[in-house]
Amino acid sequence: MLDKIRKLEKEISEFRDNDGGALEEFRLKYLSKKGLIPSLFQEFRNIPKEDKGKYGKLINDLKNEATEKYTRLKESVDTGDSQSGFTDLTRPAEKSFPGSRHPLSIVRNEIISIFQRLGFTISEGPEIENDEHVFTKLNFPPEHPARDMQDTFYIKRKSEEDSDPDDILLRTHTSSVQVRVMENEKPPIRTISPGRVFRNEAISARAHCIFHQVEGLYIDTNVSFADLKQTLYFFAVEMFGKETKIRLRPSYFPFTEPSAEMDISCTICGGKGCNVCKYTGWLEILGCGMVDPNVLEYCGIDNQKYTGFAFGMGIERAAMLKYQVNDLRLYFENDVRFLKQFSSSF
Ligand code: DAH
Repeated sequence: MLDKIRKLEKEISEFRDNDGGALEEFRLKYLSKKGLIPSLFQEFRNIPKEDKGKYGKLINDLKNEATEKYTRLKESVDTGDSQSGFTDLTRPAEKSFPGSRHPLSIVRNEIISIFQRLGFTISEGPEIENDEHVFTKLNFPPEHPARDMQDTFYIKRKSEEDSDPDDILLRTHTSSVQVRVMENEKPPIRTISPGRVFRNEAISARAHCIFHQVEGLYIDTNVSFADLKQTLYFFAVEMFGKETKIRLRPSYFPFTEPSAEMDISCTICGGKGCNVCKYTGWLEILGCGMVDPNVLEYCGIDNQKYTGFAFGMGIERAAMLKYQVNDLRLYFENDVRFLKQFSSSF
Protein backbone atom coordinates (compact mmCIF):
# COMPACT_ATOMS: atom_id res chain seq x y z
CA MET A 1 0.00 0.00 0.00
CA LEU A 2 2.75 2.40 0.98
CA ASP A 3 4.66 1.68 -2.21
CA LYS A 4 1.57 2.32 -4.26
CA ILE A 5 0.97 5.65 -2.59
CA ARG A 6 4.60 6.73 -3.04
CA LYS A 7 4.51 5.72 -6.70
CA LEU A 8 1.36 7.72 -7.33
CA GLU A 9 2.79 10.69 -5.45
CA LYS A 10 5.80 10.67 -7.73
CA GLU A 11 3.73 10.34 -10.90
CA ILE A 12 1.43 13.15 -9.90
CA SER A 13 4.20 15.53 -8.93
CA GLU A 14 6.07 14.83 -12.17
CA PHE A 15 3.03 15.24 -14.38
CA ARG A 16 3.43 18.06 -16.93
CA ASP A 17 0.65 19.12 -19.16
CA ASN A 18 1.37 20.37 -22.65
CA ASP A 19 -2.10 20.46 -24.01
CA GLY A 20 -5.61 20.27 -22.63
CA GLY A 21 -5.97 16.55 -23.67
CA ALA A 22 -3.26 15.23 -21.35
CA LEU A 23 -4.93 17.01 -18.46
CA GLU A 24 -8.20 15.20 -19.09
CA GLU A 25 -6.30 11.90 -19.09
CA PHE A 26 -4.80 12.91 -15.76
CA ARG A 27 -8.25 13.49 -14.31
CA LEU A 28 -9.56 10.16 -15.58
CA LYS A 29 -6.53 8.22 -14.41
CA TYR A 30 -6.26 9.59 -10.88
CA LEU A 31 -9.40 11.41 -9.85
CA SER A 32 -12.44 10.04 -11.65
CA LYS A 33 -14.72 7.58 -9.88
CA LYS A 34 -12.85 4.61 -11.29
CA GLY A 35 -9.50 6.33 -10.96
CA LEU A 36 -6.49 5.24 -8.95
CA ILE A 37 -7.06 7.48 -5.96
CA PRO A 38 -10.65 6.41 -5.32
CA SER A 39 -9.44 2.81 -5.65
CA LEU A 40 -6.99 3.50 -2.81
CA PHE A 41 -9.95 4.47 -0.66
CA GLN A 42 -11.49 1.07 -1.50
CA GLU A 43 -8.32 -0.70 -0.37
CA PHE A 44 -8.24 1.48 2.72
CA ARG A 45 -11.24 -0.45 4.06
CA ASN A 46 -9.06 -3.55 4.48
CA ILE A 47 -6.29 -1.76 6.34
CA PRO A 48 -5.88 -2.89 9.97
CA LYS A 49 -7.39 -0.48 12.44
CA GLU A 50 -4.14 0.60 14.03
CA ASP A 51 -2.75 1.74 10.61
CA LYS A 52 -5.89 3.54 9.48
CA GLY A 53 -4.80 6.93 10.86
CA LYS A 54 -1.44 6.87 9.04
CA TYR A 55 -2.75 5.66 5.68
CA GLY A 56 -5.88 7.78 5.81
CA LYS A 57 -3.73 10.90 6.03
CA LEU A 58 -1.42 9.78 3.23
CA ILE A 59 -4.28 9.02 0.87
CA ASN A 60 -6.09 12.23 1.70
CA ASP A 61 -2.93 14.26 1.09
CA LEU A 62 -2.45 12.52 -2.22
CA LYS A 63 -6.00 13.27 -3.24
CA ASN A 64 -5.66 16.91 -2.28
CA GLU A 65 -2.42 17.26 -4.17
CA ALA A 66 -3.88 15.72 -7.32
CA THR A 67 -7.05 17.81 -7.11
CA GLU A 68 -5.09 21.01 -6.58
CA LYS A 69 -2.79 20.28 -9.46
CA TYR A 70 -5.69 19.48 -11.73
CA THR A 71 -7.56 22.70 -10.80
CA ARG A 72 -4.47 24.83 -11.26
CA LEU A 73 -3.61 23.36 -14.64
CA LYS A 74 -7.21 23.50 -15.80
CA GLU A 75 -7.34 27.18 -14.95
CA SER A 76 -4.17 27.86 -16.87
CA VAL A 77 -5.55 26.04 -19.91
CA ASP A 78 -8.73 28.12 -19.73
CA THR A 79 -6.96 31.47 -19.24
CA GLY A 80 -3.84 30.72 -21.25
CA ASP A 81 -1.71 31.76 -18.28
CA SER A 82 1.72 30.23 -18.80
CA GLN A 83 2.91 31.06 -15.26
CA SER A 84 1.07 28.14 -13.79
CA GLY A 85 2.86 25.60 -15.92
CA PHE A 86 1.00 25.66 -19.20
CA THR A 87 2.49 27.41 -22.21
CA ASP A 88 0.76 27.40 -25.53
CA LEU A 89 3.43 28.73 -27.83
CA THR A 90 1.08 28.76 -30.78
CA ARG A 91 -1.34 31.19 -29.16
CA PRO A 92 -1.41 34.59 -30.97
CA ALA A 93 0.15 37.33 -28.86
CA GLU A 94 -2.19 39.73 -27.13
CA LYS A 95 -2.31 43.16 -28.74
CA SER A 96 -0.87 45.84 -26.54
CA PHE A 97 -1.64 49.50 -26.94
CA PRO A 98 1.13 51.52 -25.37
CA GLY A 99 0.24 55.19 -25.08
CA SER A 100 2.22 57.83 -26.90
CA ARG A 101 3.07 61.35 -25.92
CA HIS A 102 0.79 64.14 -27.02
CA PRO A 103 2.27 66.02 -30.01
CA LEU A 104 2.26 69.26 -28.01
CA SER A 105 4.30 67.58 -25.26
CA ILE A 106 6.72 66.21 -27.83
CA VAL A 107 7.26 69.65 -29.37
CA ARG A 108 7.47 71.37 -25.99
CA ASN A 109 10.06 68.85 -24.78
CA GLU A 110 12.04 69.26 -27.97
CA ILE A 111 12.06 73.05 -27.64
CA ILE A 112 13.15 72.71 -24.00
CA SER A 113 15.94 70.32 -24.90
CA ILE A 114 17.28 72.64 -27.63
CA PHE A 115 17.47 75.64 -25.28
CA GLN A 116 18.84 73.54 -22.42
CA ARG A 117 21.78 72.72 -24.67
CA LEU A 118 22.43 76.47 -24.84
CA GLY A 119 22.43 76.73 -21.04
CA PHE A 120 18.84 77.96 -20.57
CA THR A 121 17.06 76.92 -17.38
CA ILE A 122 13.30 76.30 -17.12
CA SER A 123 11.05 78.54 -15.07
CA GLU A 124 7.35 78.48 -14.45
CA GLY A 125 4.80 80.95 -13.19
CA PRO A 126 1.13 81.00 -12.22
CA GLU A 127 -1.65 80.72 -14.81
CA ILE A 128 -3.88 82.93 -12.67
CA GLU A 129 -2.01 86.22 -12.71
CA ASN A 130 -2.48 89.87 -12.02
CA ASP A 131 -2.43 92.80 -14.41
CA GLU A 132 0.91 93.96 -13.00
CA HIS A 133 2.78 90.87 -14.23
CA VAL A 134 0.89 90.32 -17.47
CA PHE A 135 0.72 93.94 -18.63
CA THR A 136 1.92 96.81 -16.43
CA LYS A 137 5.50 95.69 -15.83
CA LEU A 138 5.75 94.64 -19.47
CA ASN A 139 5.29 98.26 -20.46
CA PHE A 140 1.73 97.99 -21.75
CA PRO A 141 0.19 101.46 -21.67
CA PRO A 142 -3.05 101.51 -19.61
CA GLU A 143 -5.22 101.87 -22.69
CA HIS A 144 -3.49 99.14 -24.74
CA PRO A 145 -6.03 97.04 -26.68
CA ALA A 146 -4.54 93.73 -25.51
CA ARG A 147 -5.90 94.47 -22.02
CA ASP A 148 -9.36 94.71 -23.47
CA MET A 149 -12.07 92.36 -22.22
CA GLN A 150 -12.18 90.89 -25.73
CA ASP A 151 -8.81 89.23 -25.25
CA THR A 152 -8.39 88.74 -21.55
CA PHE A 153 -10.34 86.48 -19.24
CA TYR A 154 -10.72 88.56 -16.10
CA ILE A 155 -11.37 86.88 -12.77
CA LYS A 156 -11.56 89.94 -10.54
CA ARG A 157 -11.66 93.50 -11.86
CA LYS A 158 -11.59 96.72 -9.88
CA SER A 159 -13.49 98.64 -12.52
CA GLU A 160 -14.89 97.81 -15.94
CA GLU A 161 -13.39 100.92 -17.49
CA ASP A 162 -9.89 101.14 -16.10
CA SER A 163 -7.24 98.52 -15.80
CA ASP A 164 -5.64 98.19 -12.41
CA PRO A 165 -2.36 96.41 -11.59
CA ASP A 166 -4.27 94.41 -8.97
CA ASP A 167 -6.83 93.02 -11.41
CA ILE A 168 -6.80 89.21 -11.39
CA LEU A 169 -6.88 87.45 -14.74
CA LEU A 170 -5.79 84.37 -16.67
CA ARG A 171 -2.42 85.11 -18.24
CA THR A 172 -2.66 85.89 -21.94
CA HIS A 173 1.01 85.13 -22.58
CA THR A 174 3.97 83.52 -20.82
CA SER A 175 5.83 86.86 -20.88
CA SER A 176 4.46 87.27 -17.33
CA VAL A 177 6.97 84.62 -16.24
CA GLN A 178 9.90 86.73 -17.45
CA VAL A 179 8.68 89.51 -15.16
CA ARG A 180 8.58 87.13 -12.19
CA VAL A 181 12.04 85.77 -12.99
CA MET A 182 13.53 89.28 -13.30
CA GLU A 183 11.93 90.33 -10.02
CA ASN A 184 13.42 87.36 -8.20
CA GLU A 185 16.77 86.67 -9.83
CA LYS A 186 19.91 88.61 -10.53
CA PRO A 187 21.52 88.61 -13.98
CA PRO A 188 22.95 86.74 -15.74
CA ILE A 189 19.53 85.22 -16.48
CA ARG A 190 19.03 82.65 -19.20
CA THR A 191 15.68 80.93 -18.94
CA ILE A 192 12.74 79.56 -20.90
CA SER A 193 9.20 79.33 -19.59
CA PRO A 194 6.79 76.90 -21.19
CA GLY A 195 3.16 77.06 -20.16
CA ARG A 196 -0.54 77.44 -20.86
CA VAL A 197 -2.07 80.77 -21.83
CA PHE A 198 -5.66 81.91 -22.20
CA ARG A 199 -7.40 84.33 -24.53
CA ASN A 200 -10.99 85.16 -25.04
CA GLU A 201 -11.17 84.02 -28.66
CA ALA A 202 -13.73 82.10 -30.67
CA ILE A 203 -12.50 78.55 -31.31
CA SER A 204 -11.63 77.84 -34.94
CA ALA A 205 -9.05 75.95 -37.00
CA ARG A 206 -6.55 78.75 -36.35
CA ALA A 207 -7.45 80.01 -32.87
CA HIS A 208 -8.27 78.56 -29.47
CA CYS A 209 -9.02 80.08 -26.09
CA ILE A 210 -6.38 77.89 -24.43
CA PHE A 211 -3.00 77.32 -25.99
CA HIS A 212 0.66 76.94 -25.08
CA GLN A 213 3.68 79.20 -25.40
CA VAL A 214 7.36 79.07 -24.65
CA GLU A 215 8.94 82.30 -23.53
CA GLY A 216 12.69 82.90 -23.65
CA LEU A 217 14.73 85.47 -21.75
CA TYR A 218 18.44 86.24 -21.71
CA ILE A 219 19.83 89.09 -19.61
CA ASP A 220 23.49 89.87 -19.08
CA THR A 221 26.02 92.60 -19.80
CA ASN A 222 26.52 93.23 -23.52
CA VAL A 223 23.70 91.06 -24.84
CA SER A 224 23.06 92.21 -28.40
CA PHE A 225 20.58 91.68 -31.21
CA ALA A 226 23.25 89.52 -32.90
CA ASP A 227 23.08 87.13 -29.91
CA LEU A 228 19.31 86.95 -30.30
CA LYS A 229 19.56 86.22 -33.98
CA GLN A 230 22.21 83.53 -33.56
CA THR A 231 20.28 81.85 -30.74
CA LEU A 232 17.08 81.76 -32.79
CA TYR A 233 18.92 80.52 -35.86
CA PHE A 234 20.36 77.65 -33.81
CA PHE A 235 16.87 76.86 -32.56
CA ALA A 236 15.32 76.90 -36.06
CA VAL A 237 17.95 74.58 -37.50
CA GLU A 238 17.73 72.13 -34.59
CA MET A 239 13.94 72.13 -34.64
CA PHE A 240 13.11 72.18 -38.34
CA GLY A 241 16.26 70.78 -40.00
CA LYS A 242 19.60 72.07 -41.16
CA GLU A 243 18.33 73.46 -44.45
CA THR A 244 16.08 75.89 -42.54
CA LYS A 245 16.59 79.60 -43.18
CA ILE A 246 15.32 82.39 -40.96
CA ARG A 247 14.34 85.98 -41.54
CA LEU A 248 13.54 88.72 -39.04
CA ARG A 249 10.91 91.32 -39.84
CA PRO A 250 10.57 94.54 -37.80
CA SER A 251 7.51 94.43 -35.56
CA TYR A 252 6.11 95.94 -32.38
CA PHE A 253 5.67 94.62 -28.86
CA PRO A 254 5.38 96.96 -25.86
CA PHE A 255 8.03 95.01 -23.92
CA THR A 256 10.78 94.87 -26.55
CA GLU A 257 12.63 97.56 -28.45
CA PRO A 258 13.51 96.93 -31.20
CA SER A 259 11.00 94.13 -31.81
CA ALA A 260 10.87 91.57 -34.59
CA GLU A 261 8.94 88.61 -35.87
CA MET A 262 10.84 85.61 -37.08
CA ASP A 263 9.90 83.56 -40.12
CA ILE A 264 11.39 80.22 -41.10
CA SER A 265 11.66 78.99 -44.67
CA CYS A 266 8.57 76.93 -45.47
CA THR A 267 8.82 73.42 -44.05
CA ILE A 268 6.88 72.01 -47.02
CA CYS A 269 8.36 73.64 -50.11
CA GLY A 270 11.68 74.76 -48.62
CA GLY A 271 11.02 78.35 -49.70
CA LYS A 272 9.91 77.84 -53.29
CA GLY A 273 6.28 78.71 -52.56
CA CYS A 274 3.28 76.47 -51.92
CA ASN A 275 -0.21 76.77 -50.51
CA VAL A 276 0.98 76.22 -46.93
CA CYS A 277 3.21 79.31 -47.02
CA LYS A 278 0.70 81.07 -49.30
CA TYR A 279 3.38 81.22 -51.97
CA THR A 280 5.65 83.46 -49.88
CA GLY A 281 8.18 80.74 -49.04
CA TRP A 282 8.10 81.83 -45.37
CA LEU A 283 6.19 80.82 -42.21
CA GLU A 284 5.88 83.01 -39.16
CA ILE A 285 7.09 81.25 -36.03
CA LEU A 286 7.77 83.67 -33.17
CA GLY A 287 8.00 87.20 -31.79
CA CYS A 288 11.18 88.56 -30.25
CA GLY A 289 13.25 91.63 -29.49
CA MET A 290 15.60 93.39 -27.09
CA VAL A 291 14.00 93.74 -23.66
CA ASP A 292 12.75 97.34 -23.36
CA PRO A 293 14.86 99.25 -20.78
CA ASN A 294 11.58 100.27 -19.09
CA VAL A 295 10.78 96.60 -18.43
CA LEU A 296 14.20 96.05 -16.88
CA GLU A 297 13.67 99.06 -14.65
CA TYR A 298 10.14 98.01 -13.58
CA CYS A 299 11.50 94.59 -12.63
CA GLY A 300 14.40 95.97 -10.61
CA ILE A 301 17.26 95.35 -13.03
CA ASP A 302 19.86 98.05 -13.70
CA ASN A 303 19.20 99.02 -17.32
CA GLN A 304 22.44 100.96 -17.55
CA LYS A 305 24.44 97.83 -16.84
CA TYR A 306 22.36 95.09 -18.41
CA THR A 307 20.68 94.41 -21.71
CA GLY A 308 18.72 91.37 -22.77
CA PHE A 309 16.66 89.69 -25.41
CA ALA A 310 13.34 87.90 -25.21
CA PHE A 311 11.25 85.78 -27.51
CA GLY A 312 7.94 84.00 -27.37
CA MET A 313 6.39 81.32 -29.53
CA GLY A 314 3.22 79.27 -29.69
CA ILE A 315 3.77 75.55 -29.22
CA GLU A 316 0.66 74.69 -31.25
CA ARG A 317 2.00 76.82 -34.08
CA ALA A 318 5.43 75.15 -33.97
CA ALA A 319 3.77 71.72 -33.86
CA MET A 320 1.51 72.60 -36.81
CA LEU A 321 4.55 73.55 -38.86
CA LYS A 322 6.51 70.52 -37.79
CA TYR A 323 3.76 67.97 -38.38
CA GLN A 324 1.75 69.82 -41.03
CA VAL A 325 -1.40 69.79 -38.95
CA ASN A 326 -3.88 72.25 -40.39
CA ASP A 327 -6.51 72.42 -37.67
CA LEU A 328 -5.65 73.57 -34.15
CA ARG A 329 -8.71 71.87 -32.68
CA LEU A 330 -7.20 68.44 -33.33
CA TYR A 331 -4.74 69.04 -30.48
CA PHE A 332 -7.55 69.31 -27.96
CA GLU A 333 -10.03 66.68 -29.13
CA ASN A 334 -7.85 63.73 -28.09
CA ASP A 335 -9.04 61.56 -30.95
CA VAL A 336 -6.87 58.44 -30.68
CA ARG A 337 -6.66 58.17 -34.47
CA PHE A 338 -4.91 61.54 -34.48
CA LEU A 339 -2.77 61.00 -31.38
CA LYS A 340 -1.40 57.59 -32.26
CA GLN A 341 0.40 58.99 -35.30
CA PHE A 342 2.95 60.64 -33.04
CA SER A 343 5.77 58.86 -31.36
CA SER A 344 9.03 60.22 -30.26
CA SER A 345 12.00 59.95 -27.97
CA PHE A 346 11.10 63.30 -26.39
N1 DAH B 1 4.04 87.62 -25.66
C1 DAH B 1 3.94 87.66 -27.10
C2 DAH B 1 2.60 87.10 -27.52
O1 DAH B 1 1.95 86.47 -26.75
C3 DAH B 1 5.02 86.88 -27.74
C4 DAH B 1 6.35 87.54 -27.56
C5 DAH B 1 6.79 88.42 -28.50
C6 DAH B 1 7.15 87.26 -26.46
C7 DAH B 1 8.02 89.04 -28.36
C8 DAH B 1 8.37 87.88 -26.31
C9 DAH B 1 8.79 88.76 -27.29
O2 DAH B 1 9.18 87.65 -25.27
O3 DAH B 1 10.00 89.37 -27.12
O4 DAH B 1 2.20 87.28 -28.63
